Amino acid sequence: MSTNLDGIYAQAEKDVAPIDSHDKLAALKADYLGASSALKQAFLEIKTLPSDQKGAFGKKVNEVKVQLEALFIQKDKEITEKEARKKIEEEKDDISLPGRNHFKGAKHPCRLIEDDLTQFFLGLGYSVAEGNDVESDLFNFELVNIPKDHPARDMQDSFYIDDNLLLRSQTSGVQAHVMQERKGIGPIKIICPGKTYRRDDDDLTHSHQFSQCEGLVVSEDASMGMLMETLTLMMRHFFGEKREVRFRPSFFPFTEPSIEVDVSCFNCSGKGCPMCKNTGWIEVLGAGMVHPNVLRLNGFDPEKYQGFAFGVGLERIAMLKYGIDDIRKLFLSDTSFLKQFRKE
Ligand code: PHE
Repeated sequence: MSTNLDGIYAQAEKDVAPIDSHDKLAALKADYLGASSALKQAFLEIKTLPSDQKGAFGKKVNEVKVQLEALFIQKDKEITEKEARKKIEEEKDDISLPGRNHFKGAKHPCRLIEDDLTQFFLGLGYSVAEGNDVESDLFNFELVNIPKDHPARDMQDSFYIDDNLLLRSQTSGVQAHVMQERKGIGPIKIICPGKTYRRDDDDLTHSHQFSQCEGLVVSEDASMGMLMETLTLMMRHFFGEKREVRFRPSFFPFTEPSIEVDVSCFNCSGKGCPMCKNTGWIEVLGAGMVHPNVLRLNGFDPEKYQGFAFGVGLERIAMLKYGIDDIRKLFLSDTSFLKQFRKE
């Protein structure tokens, strides 16, 4: 007699229920739907039946096949979902791992010096004046007593944008701007920090771009004594209370008399070492009494007003203060170097 079709599906449901892997399910599926399955047998039986039974039996066989296929598809889905859930449960976050570091910025050493210098001079009653990196020949040179053919220009050759515009070689132009704005009326007490540019041999201590901070005082009583006292205070602020300061005569076209300022070596306290080239002194800045021509050219009466000015390189102070041996390190944007200056 023909296969018991009803029993096939009922048995399949029972057999499928405990299955928990795709492999086992595939094997069971082959048992029920494969070449040697009872269902396959039933398909073969169809053509042996009398024609009045063929239709009904054939229909029934097909129905069971469709049901079985649906049963296996459903189970397959269930196993896939169960496996996925298990994987998620097992994959726990390892919270013992260190978190990711976010890069925390640090102020550039030159900016630290600039901030420090600014605070120091604000404390002495100065205000801060700013200028542009691009300056005219008039303000960069002529108004600070360096006319067109002056040999001092050679030392401050710079990058020219056209015949009249250049990247400023010194911040002295800011002094001229401020004097012009004040229209001959003092007192003036300013510092002007900023970037400057010069044709220079790039080596351990020179760069074609550097930062400067100039100071200018114009008043009826400004004197060399006040200048020397101001610079001594500044040197001791940066390099320690015990530092000695030495003044040497020098030349700048915009100051008369001009001086150069040395500080006693803080590395060897003046005994002599490689840092001070065995002299016991370190050269730090230039200064002087404002040349009467500069006062006159910028609208101040040299009979009534006197002034003093000084100019200091911020990279130089940073190198001395932090013991940096190569100025180029200050321009490389090397974070492993720069992060040393992070103040936590
Ligand atoms: N401007 C001068 C320089 O760049 C420095 C300086 C400023 C000297 C003010 C004296 C007075 O070399």
